[in-house]
Amino acid sequence: MFFKRSADSTALGNAAEPWEATPDAPLMSLRGVEKSFPAGAGQTFVLRRIAIDIKPGEFVSIMGPSGAGKSTLLHILGLHDSAWSGEYALMGQPIHKLPAKERSALQKRHIGFVFQSYHLLDNLTVYENIELPLSYRNVKKSERQSIVADVLDRFGIVAKKDLYPSQLSGGQQQLVGVARAVVASPAVILADEPTGNLHSGQAQEIMELFRHLNQQGTTIVQVTHSETNAAYGNRVIRLRDGFVEAP
Ligand SMILES: Nc1ncnc2c1ncn2[C@@H]1O[C@H](COP(=O)(O)OP(=O)(O)O)[C@@H](O)[C@H]1O
Ligand SMILES: [Mg+2]
Repeated sequence: MFFKRSADSTALGNAAEPWEATPDAPLMSLRGVEKSFPAGAGQTFVLRRIAIDIKPGEFVSIMGPSGAGKSTLLHILGLHDSAWSGEYALMGQPIHKLPAKERSALQKRHIGFVFQSYHLLDNLTVYENIELPLSYRNVKKSERQSIVADVLDRFGIVAKKDLYPSQLSGGQQQLVGVARAVVASPAVILADEPTGNLHSGQAQEIMELFRHLNQQGTTIVQVTHSETNAAYGNRVIRLRDGFVEAP
């Protein structure tokens, strides 16, 4: 197991504060969410009439053909995209009405995101990339050092800590991307094909890490093409041509 959430991680704060999780209230709720791009005189829709609810503690897989809109949907869920229409409530907060600053604060506090193309910061070392989410929280430097050291160790990348992303293989960059997403024990992990560049043993370790974090209460939404990965989750949402398919 790569990473254990320590029982006394008070310095990280209560990830769900001030929102109170109840089993019935959705953590994420989308209604009539649409995303389109201008195309000629009209619009090309990449998401249509999306209505989904994800409850706290779920482990959901988003599946569907390439181009179906999976990454687009995950970026909206992760507050990385604000150019869409419709309604999205995250932890009871109406995201469609929130100013950018408040969206960003919610994102930094609650969401760990694994990008399909890693998005590591090129001018920061592996160590600094992984430390970044902790620096957004009020975690003391000494505690940050011990948390990052622990994660580097669990991910087997201690020897890479002073290298820059361009000095890593794709698989190593993907591991750093996953480490960065989990390091601050976020309430929600959103992962876009998080094992796409890993060999099967590493992929299984990442899925077991996700299962462990999910058992500890972390809500997880992953995009995957892998039935093996999807089997770690409790539910699949299928997208096709921008629509959610009936289950
Ligand atoms: N900037 C853009 N302009 C126009 N179309 C785009 C843009 N970005 C993404 N798309 C289109 O949106 C669709 C969904 O893309 P994406 O969400 O990345 O799909 P998936 O992750 O399911 O493979 C694709 O058809 C893609 O071409
Ligand atoms: Mg994608």
